[in-house]
Amino acid sequence: MGKVHRYYYECEPWTPASWQRCYEQTRFSEYTAERELAIIEQLIVPGPDDVILDAGCGYGRLAERFLSRGASVIGVDISRKMITYCNRELQGDFAGAVADIENLPFHDGSFNKIVCVGVLVHVESPQRAIREFARVLKPGGIFVTVNNNLLLLYYSLFHSLRFFVADWVRRLLGRPRRRYVIRYRSPFWYANLVEEAGLQVEKIRGDTFIGVLKIRQFTLFPPEFSLPWFQRLDRLAAKAPYKYFTFASYICARRM
Ligand SMILES: C[S@@+](CC[C@H](N)C(=O)[O-])C[C@H]1O[C@@H](n2cnc3c(N)ncnc32)[C@H](O)[C@@H]1O
Repeated sequence: MGKVHRYYYECEPWTPASWQRCYEQTRFSEYTAERELAIIEQLIVPGPDDVILDAGCGYGRLAERFLSRGASVIGVDISRKMITYCNRELQGDFAGAVADIENLPFHDGSFNKIVCVGVLVHVESPQRAIREFARVLKPGGIFVTVNNNLLLLYYSLFHSLRFFVADWVRRLLGRPRRRYVIRYRSPFWYANLVEEAGLQVEKIRGDTFIGVLKIRQFTLFPPEFSLPWFQRLDRLAAKAPYKYFTFASYICARRM
């Protein structure tokens, strides 16, 4: 297990509750999280015949939705807390296991659908993870990944600066360096990896300029006034060419 993996596994920077707060604490975050789920559902179309791998399942937000559509879901996450929570809370045909997406404990061609949302930005080698997804996907199976987009420049700059400053503050205070990674890439970078792994990219989509996490900063504006404006902006975000510059980028690929 590499350093980064050990960090997530042992120190577990996030808890199910902290992630749940990110996605559900305000009307804004609920709105963007629901939007994200709706797009993922359009791409994955979960149903009773599916065995879906939720790679990096967190507290089971996606798995819960797929289960409610009658699918069977296997969730893996490197954090023990997340898996304990999912195995305890999720109702339906769910099985969770602590595992690293760069080294999946499944046979070739085990799943007909795989989702990986908000995880590839944290792993040491997204290449290795995507190769693993291609391996465990059945021929004809679908892979959907959603990631933060480097091309949303204002956010990427703000984010890099925030981490840069935080690292300096840690250094000044004599605290150990942060070991977890968050690396933003463009949708084209991911699409390229997906193709290199032998999958065929069917769709690249973008959504929202504001983003599910940053939306917390907008709570100063009462949702009844600002939400319709954000919604208008988000309708624009889904269109070309803006879709390449949105907060979240979606890649949908198939194993031929
Ligand atoms: C941003 S959360 C996303 C959770 C979930 N996919 C969702 O959308 O709600 C990222 C998750 O990835 C997990 N993770 C990070 N590195 C991982 C790895 N190498 N293998 C499996 N899971 C990992 C973290 O523990 C965390 O639960």
